[in-house]
Amino acid sequence: MKKTLLILLSLMLCWSTAFAAERGIKRVQLSSSAPVETPYLSGKYRALVIGNNDYDDPEKLWPSLKTAVADAEAIAEILKTDYGFAEITLLKNATRRDIVKAFNKLAKTVQDSDSVLIYYAGHGSLNEDTKEGFWIPVDAEGRDDSTFVPNSTIKTKLSVIADKARHVLLVSDSCFSGALLREGNRGMSLDQKNERYYQKVAKKKSVQILAAGGLEFVDDNYKGTRHSPFTYYFLQSLKDNNDRYFEATDLSQETSRNVSVNTMQTPESGVLQGAGHAGGEFFFLRNKTVEALSKMESKPALPKKPSSGSFSLADLDAHADEEESVRKAWQQKQGEMNAAVKQVRIYNQRNVSPSLKTEAWRRFIAGFSEDNPYSSEDENLRKEAHNHIDNWKTQQEQLKAKKKRLADAKRKAEEERKKQRASAALRQKQEAGVTLSPVMAGGEAEVLHWWTSGGEAKALQVLKDDFAKKGGTWKDMPVAGGGGNAANATLKARIIAGDPPTASQIKGPTIQEYDEVGVVAPYHIHEVATAENWDSLLSPQVANHMKCDGFTKYCAAPVNIHRIDWFWANKKVLDAHGLKMPTSWDEFNAAASKLQAAGIIPFAHGGQPWQDATVFEAVALGIGGNEFYQKAIVELDMDALGGSTMVKIFDQMRKLQGFTDKGMPGRDWNVATGMVMSGKAAFQIMGDWAKGEFSNAGLKPGIDFYCLPTPSNHGYLYNVDSFIFYGGMKGKSKIDGQKMLASSIMGKNFQKIFNLYKGSIPARLDVPMDEFDMCAKKSAADLNYSSMTGGLQPSFAHGMTLRNAQKGAIQDVVTEHFNSSMSSNEAARRLAQAVKASL
Ligand code: BGC
Repeated sequence: MKKTLLILLSLMLCWSTAFAAERGIKRVQLSSSAPVETPYLSGKYRALVIGNNDYDDPEKLWPSLKTAVADAEAIAEILKTDYGFAEITLLKNATRRDIVKAFNKLAKTVQDSDSVLIYYAGHGSLNEDTKEGFWIPVDAEGRDDSTFVPNSTIKTKLSVIADKARHVLLVSDSCFSGALLREGNRGMSLDQKNERYYQKVAKKKSVQILAAGGLEFVDDNYKGTRHSPFTYYFLQSLKDNNDRYFEATDLSQETSRNVSVNTMQTPESGVLQGAGHAGGEFFFLRNKTVEALSKMESKPALPKKPSSGSFSLADLDAHADEEESVRKAWQQKQGEMNAAVKQVRIYNQRNVSPSLKTEAWRRFIAGFSEDNPYSSEDENLRKEAHNHIDNWKTQQEQLKAKKKRLADAKRKAEEERKKQRASAALRQKQEAGVTLSPVMAGGEAEVLHWWTSGGEAKALQVLKDDFAKKGGTWKDMPVAGGGGNAANATLKARIIAGDPPTASQIKGPTIQEYDEVGVVAPYHIHEVATAENWDSLLSPQVANHMKCDGFTKYCAAPVNIHRIDWFWANKKVLDAHGLKMPTSWDEFNAAASKLQAAGIIPFAHGGQPWQDATVFEAVALGIGGNEFYQKAIVELDMDALGGSTMVKIFDQMRKLQGFTDKGMPGRDWNVATGMVMSGKAAFQIMGDWAKGEFSNAGLKPGIDFYCLPTPSNHGYLYNVDSFIFYGGMKGKSKIDGQKMLASSIMGKNFQKIFNLYKGSIPARLDVPMDEFDMCAKKSAADLNYSSMTGGLQPSFAHGMTLRNAQKGAIQDVVTEHFNSSMSSNEAARRLAQAVKASL
């Protein structure tokens, strides 16, 4: 079988110097009595030799070189005369196309068992961002790396060649050539070098690389030798070699040692990973006989000759030439820039619009964007240009803002005048005893709600009575179940059946969701709201929740504002154990542990998903803070939902779970409140409808029970109860019923009495708070404070934010965690995952 060696000299290795030194250089002479069987080296020797001197870069980034062509010529020559290379392609001053074509041709002609050497001398480059290295062909254009030959291309071509060839060696003499090496740096194995060794490695495939330097600049014209230092020493080793078989590894190490001892460069060598290297070795076959070599070996060892190089500054001169030409080019560019700035400054004085001036400065920046490495003048001029642009921008923005301010002020003044006129008319009508709104007596209303607990029912009765007093007929449609989940399901079924009630309890964005499906228009109560000027009676935030048709028309009426984040506690139990209301979660945990040890149930909780969610949102606001709550729960930011703060929140949830009792699953919220009232349990976390239960039982805050917001940074979780009024009502009495009910709900006196019973505070801003208890007063004061300081947050558990799909996703994970031993990390991960899937 014909065996050939393919030699490829390349630039891609990255061996550590420690490894190279340890390995040393061991040239083994073949004994004449047992010559290596050459069939293993019977393939053809081929070479592609490239040398680039004459760079023709329109941007002058790549100056011409002095020695690359001479280097390549000398390499081609020695390969032909001393090492019997049969086919050598010599490319001088190769373009990108020449190089790629030559590689392709080589890949086509190469045969099994050939040895292929590829040598390159010329500029190299490294992209600092991508860390990709390149050969620079003579037609390269400035920094445009699409005109370069990337390492990845070289590597691919080598792999194709190595597919067929037995041995491939790539030698690269260029700057940054070491970048190729970073793609693979496994060293070759160290075998005992005897005849068998040669036979063995000659048979195995090799793809090796020798590169002139790592990521450093490589010298051109070393000591006036007309060669680069790397090629100079590389050639020197090839010339000095007296062995028949000269291994690429030895040649690499010898060259590396000579170059790094004598210059600032450190060549690198190794194998090209992923191209089929199988532990083989590229051999240079010297055209000398084994006998001659044997003779030489028998001579006495001589000391090493002095090195042949002589002192020279020629290489430094070359650098100086280059540097001077670059500096000169920059001086010229700076001159152009200085002239240009003068032009723009003059233009800037002209009586033209700011946008034209800005454009002139913009063009200046675009025309001179490159950083002058020899001066800071360019930078200052660019700064001047940016300042002009910024000034114009600021002026324009200020002008715009001024116009807007004036328009807003005008609009506000007009609105205010309108309001005053409306209020005056309203007062006049009131004084004259005229009916305020266009409501007819005798309306009827079927009202769907879930207010069935003691406190809730008592509060609702106030509304029923008021409605009856107006002459209305109330048809009660209660659907029991705290938080309204069951009521909402019944309501949905009625709506789907095309038979909505006259009004129903509904909250937050669900109001607009129902409007979007078309069951709320034509908004009969808007007429009442306009006549009674609800806009002036409600805060804009509450008013917005009540509006449909793109927040322009009232379609719902608010009864109250509930606060969610409350601790309720039995005073006697706390006093008996010397405990105060906790002002931090740690204090709560400590108090709860103490109570638990004393046999009291620390935390009364009803194991229903909406109650778990109620507790969770209070803990989230408390531990996460206002911004976190906004990000995670309102904006559904995935990092916040699945992050470390959420893990802490679940940690606290786990602690709370530990303070509950066995009867928790399925328990109604008012039963849990009852446990606190009786002293069976100490604390409950619940919205202030719980206070409706305390009040209904005749208990007083500060005397029988305590109320205190759960610990947070002035946060306030709000929940507005409201009634929505549906469209599609058949008969005038139903429409009248809607109008009458809406008017009742917004009645000032009604809002007071209702909320005294319900535990909440009035939605109307003008209801005096003096008859309310300390918890309600605290709620009203905190509401004001938090709305001014960014703490006012919508309750998701009670439908004031999020669509139902996202609310459900959060609630499900919270409940699953609370009712299992799921880790906090896992819960946070699942929370983010569930919300993402629901979007
Ligand atoms: C409602 C309250 C009600 C509570 C318990 C909340 O969603 O806003 O009015 O009392 O659920 O049913």
